[in-house]
Amino acid sequence: MRAVTWQGKRDVRVEEVPDPRIEEPTDAVIRVTSTGLCGSDLHLYEVLTPFMTPGDILGHEAMGIVEEVGAGVPDLQAGDRVVVPFQIACGNCWMCLTGLPTQCETTQVSTEGMGAPLFGYTRLYGAVPGGQAEYLRVPQAQYGPIKVPEGPADDRFVYLSDVLPTAWQAVAYADVPEGGSVAVLGLGPIGDMACRIARLQGADRVFGVDLVPERLRRARERGVETFDLRSFDDEKELLTAIRDRTDGRGPDAVIDAVGTEAHGSGAARLVQNAAALLPRKLGGPLAERFSVDRLAALYTAIDLVRRGGTVSVSGVYGGMADPMPLLTMFDKQIQLRMGQANVRRWSDEIIPYLTDDDPLGVDDFATHRLPLSDAPTAYDMFQRKRDGAVKVLMKP
Ligand SMILES: NC(=O)c1ccc[n+]([C@@H]2O[C@H](COP(=O)([O-])OP(=O)(O)OC[C@H]3O[C@@H](n4cnc5c(N)ncnc54)[C@H](O)[C@@H]3O)[C@@H](O)[C@H]2O)c1
Ligand SMILES: [Zn+2]
Ligand SMILES: [Zn+2]
Repeated sequence: MRAVTWQGKRDVRVEEVPDPRIEEPTDAVIRVTSTGLCGSDLHLYEVLTPFMTPGDILGHEAMGIVEEVGAGVPDLQAGDRVVVPFQIACGNCWMCLTGLPTQCETTQVSTEGMGAPLFGYTRLYGAVPGGQAEYLRVPQAQYGPIKVPEGPADDRFVYLSDVLPTAWQAVAYADVPEGGSVAVLGLGPIGDMACRIARLQGADRVFGVDLVPERLRRARERGVETFDLRSFDDEKELLTAIRDRTDGRGPDAVIDAVGTEAHGSGAARLVQNAAALLPRKLGGPLAERFSVDRLAALYTAIDLVRRGGTVSVSGVYGGMADPMPLLTMFDKQIQLRMGQANVRRWSDEIIPYLTDDDPLGVDDFATHRLPLSDAPTAYDMFQRKRDGAVKVLMKP
């Protein structure tokens, strides 16, 4: 089959690789019909390279048609239409039953000290072949895949794999009080969707911050009060502008939908680049122990949130030695919640909104639909935010 493989920094290629097959009774193999490109893939493209191996198959936002199931997957059969959550969990351990499949005790990548494995996401997360491919082997298929009805185009459902539950969890963790306000930093797919969900759930004021004009426009068109980072001389001016709209206090909650590649501080790039140049054996551990994220967005979130408010972090950070402003966090009595989205924890709550009247605007959420063979162009375009690319779906 053809699959998108990682070959090196900013180097992905579509290559012929062996077809996946059933290896465990709890496996399924699906024929992928749509597969998303995510901000998280961009970390692998550029920053997390020490944790990648050339030839790794990328992608964690796939849906498709079940081809084959193992004997331990009673509820799926060939021909079913399914969306595959980006994490692999058993559905039956203490963590899964608590609603935390990202921490699944059956599948945890204990050799790396990490939680549940993720499709197409570095050896830290199990080096599992990903879903930007013609076929995908889905482990723990007795729990993961979400069955969806025939009829609507893939666009209606594909975001259940990641964007929707991630944005949903971001808003749930933000815990915006009735009639309250929330600021969303970053208006990529995750931040944009988080704004939509916050409004749907009744947040009174939703503020959105980014620096890409078409991303700001998309949010503004759906009622978000937007702020263009480029129009402020410094962070203080931005904080003042948003505080002015919240009685001088700051929003009740701030969602960080940016993560480690935040625009606005370059210091950590040096460390990341240095680690990426080391021999593979050294590069991994070293990057792991000494890495520092670019923390501009997280610092802004902590400064901006009102005293006693909540910071909800969806953006991915990977540093082990990040300097955090604990004086401010403690003094402002901030609550901080974060993590990978627990997909199946939220999917049943979300599905009722995936209807013909489309309250979340999923049907035209994608800005680009490309064949899988265009993956190298798609990655480049999405990373550089060219051609109005906000969400890219690929069709094998
Ligand atoms: N927690 C999870 O389960 C989960 C799931 C999916 C994605 N993510 C993470 O969420 C983040 C966003 O994902 P995405 O797909 O929307 O990616 P994206 O890269 O398209 O979006 C990030 C946006 O942040 C903007 N930005 C950069 N610096 C900023 C700053 N200082 N202030 C405000 N905006 C800034 C960029 O212009 C961009 O529009 C990524 O870090 C991704 O890894 C997490
Ligand atoms: Zn994703
Ligand atoms: Zn489990």
